[in-house]
Amino acid sequence: METDFQTKMMTIEDGLDEAVKLLRQGEVVAFPTETVYGLGANALDSKACQKIFTIKGRPADNPLIVHIASVADAQKIVLEWTDAAKACAEAFWPGPLTLVLPKSEIVPDIVSAGLNTVAVRMPAHPAALELIRTAGVPLAAPSANISGKPSPTEGKHVWQDLKGRIPLVIDAGKCSVGLESTVLDLSGKIPVILRPGGVTREQLRAVLGKVEIELGVEDGREVLGQPRSPGMKYRHYAPDGEMILLKSQDQKKAEKIAEWVSHKKSGDKIALLCMEETVAMLSVQELDQIDFLFVLGSVQRPQEAASHLFGALRKCDEEKINCILAEELPEEGIGLAFMNRLKKAAGKNKFTDPEKV
Ligand code: TXA
Ligand code: MG
Repeated sequence: METDFQTKMMTIEDGLDEAVKLLRQGEVVAFPTETVYGLGANALDSKACQKIFTIKGRPADNPLIVHIASVADAQKIVLEWTDAAKACAEAFWPGPLTLVLPKSEIVPDIVSAGLNTVAVRMPAHPAALELIRTAGVPLAAPSANISGKPSPTEGKHVWQDLKGRIPLVIDAGKCSVGLESTVLDLSGKIPVILRPGGVTREQLRAVLGKVEIELGVEDGREVLGQPRSPGMKYRHYAPDGEMILLKSQDQKKAEKIAEWVSHKKSGDKIALLCMEETVAMLSVQELDQIDFLFVLGSVQRPQEAASHLFGALRKCDEEKINCILAEELPEEGIGLAFMNRLKKAAGKNKFTDPEKV
């Protein structure tokens, strides 16, 4: 792999022609979507898609999402455009919903990691749509991070992870959703959420009726064996510091934060990722002990908190934080996806005792 690209960062206005030229030459280009930035290549070109796996350090058995700009293009890459797929596309496309359906033979095996299904999504970001339309091919794209890092929600995150490894990043600032798309498996009798995301379980049930949820999604457990979404079995981002999760309903939340802070030892760096309502319950002295305060948003607007989570986690490592206190959200609406990512980031650290930090 060529690893010494002079990576350029451009807006879609300035970079569209170059991005299209690169994609047609079989190169890889990072681009914004409303969820997170994607690392795109021509989905019909196996060699170009192979580069994505190499650049990210992604395991070969983790399939890619194919991004399209019209329903007609989605229909070309699946075997059958089912009633459920039609209903989902009408209700949620363009938007943060990925549909898993039996694949047609034009989809290279490398994209589907040898599965007989393919994941397809029409993103809502105008830059993504313009790029796909102008390139004239579907774009296979995982999140544009190095495997094991949080998905990038700003152009500069892509730059931090991939500079020198890719020729071009199309930059459009912050992503509005900030968590990845919902992956919905429509290949069986009953739709199954393989990964919660920007379109909520409640929204899907309103359109489809019965919708199940894959084992391990709600409790953040690592799924062993052969999960239906291969990506779910891989360890996700774990920050360098210990993570302590604070229950959103806990009346004594502020006292718990104060307790953790009181155990701070010299050299410790504590971060607090919480809602503005919680900050209001802390004293000036307590706030003073916190090295990095990241107000995720208001409990009234969980979407705002969701959009800030990955950026805040990245910042904790940058700031060399060794103890991260993070407030949970109720697991409803976008809160389900937020909690899925937060629990995965916390991993085994979430029950740590303040004495031990
Ligand atoms: O929001 C998003 O979905 C972003 C943007 C760039 O669109 N993309 C993204 O891609 O998050 P990635 O590769 O980081 O995650 C794709 C997920 C993985 O968990 C993968 O295993 C699952 O989708 N997936 C892909 N194809 C699948 C298939 N055929 N069957 C089951 N799961 C699949
Ligand atoms: Mg990813």
